[in-house]
Amino acid sequence: MRRKVKGNVDWVGKIDWELKKFHGSEYSTHRGSSYNSYVVQEAKTVLIDGVWAPFAKEFVDNLEAEGILAKLDFVVANHGEVDHSGSLPELLRRRPGLPVYCTAKGVQSLKGLYHEDWNFQVVKTGDSLDIGNGKSLVFVEAPMLHWPDSMFTYLAGEALLFSNDAFGQHYASERLFNDLVDQDELWAECVKYYANILTPFSALVTRKIAEVLALGVPVEMIAPSHGIIWRKDPLQIVTKYQAWAADYQEDRIAILYDSMWDGTRKLAEGIAQGISQASPSTKVVVHNVAKTDKNDVITDVFRSKAILAGSPTVNRGILNAMAGILEEIRGLKFKGKAASAFGCHGWSAEGVPLLLEELAKAGFEIRGEGLKVLWEPDAAAVEAARELGRKFVG
Ligand code: FEO
Repeated sequence: MRRKVKGNVDWVGKIDWELKKFHGSEYSTHRGSSYNSYVVQEAKTVLIDGVWAPFAKEFVDNLEAEGILAKLDFVVANHGEVDHSGSLPELLRRRPGLPVYCTAKGVQSLKGLYHEDWNFQVVKTGDSLDIGNGKSLVFVEAPMLHWPDSMFTYLAGEALLFSNDAFGQHYASERLFNDLVDQDELWAECVKYYANILTPFSALVTRKIAEVLALGVPVEMIAPSHGIIWRKDPLQIVTKYQAWAADYQEDRIAILYDSMWDGTRKLAEGIAQGISQASPSTKVVVHNVAKTDKNDVITDVFRSKAILAGSPTVNRGILNAMAGILEEIRGLKFKGKAASAFGCHGWSAEGVPLLLEELAKAGFEIRGEGLKVLWEPDAAAVEAARELGRKFVG
């Protein structure tokens, strides 16, 4: 259903209430998502982005029913990823030859994904298209935010920025605007999105925001391609991104572990107690990573100033859930965070050194040599875990 956004701009996307996993199974979407597509109807009629392929027919049928499909003069593809471009094959089958405006990298990704030689029109930063009635579209390339092809489109005359993935959230809501939704839910989804997708590109986020702000153009609304539209104080999400991109951390420590017979769990809990004793203001979060949603774990790592990783030694290594989350953490390139490790062992004790090695490779500042406990932790071992916690924040 078409929804009015601003001026002659309407939302024509798809709310995906039942989506629980995104990027295959890489990203949990507890609150669903949306694929936001926008139509701008001035002298020219323009479609900005589209929806994921499973909804392509429904999407294009709706455009037809609304009388938009036949009027379209061109499409803007801010980003080639399939959640936004998946409707292009159906759209262009029904409107062959329709120009598709995108970056040079966008041509590569769209050709690579669909193997079609559509009517691509390449744009670069600063290019603009007059769409009549005093309005124009201005393009701003945003490479690696989060694909090489990504760009923003600014609608001059409405002060509206179509930011694609940037400033978005996986958050299904019939309430289109930021001021109409539950603020705790909204911000939880925003920080999760940044932590899990944009962290490795933080330096680029900082530079791109500075570049856009330096243009000095008014921004009355930011319309991303997922979740709600920033209508009330739209720059609040930009300010948040600036903070998140600056090696963000809170007075928070995340303890991540997996355990076979609860020995390593007891150490995790002891460390949490020690941290709380020595630094009551520090928020401690404890996750069994084999039982906790991994994107929620990553979000807590993002918010933390330090992490402690625990695993028993198994087959001279660590448990696979810890290995998996450490691989995620390594790829996200966190900066300015400290770490240590802990775990139980029986006849050999490779687990803790291996954890420390992986944490160092992931860019964490290693504090101390961690804690290895032979067999089941007794009261003295649990006290040693508390001491590790106390010293870690001491
Ligand atoms: Fe929402 Fe990178 O696609």
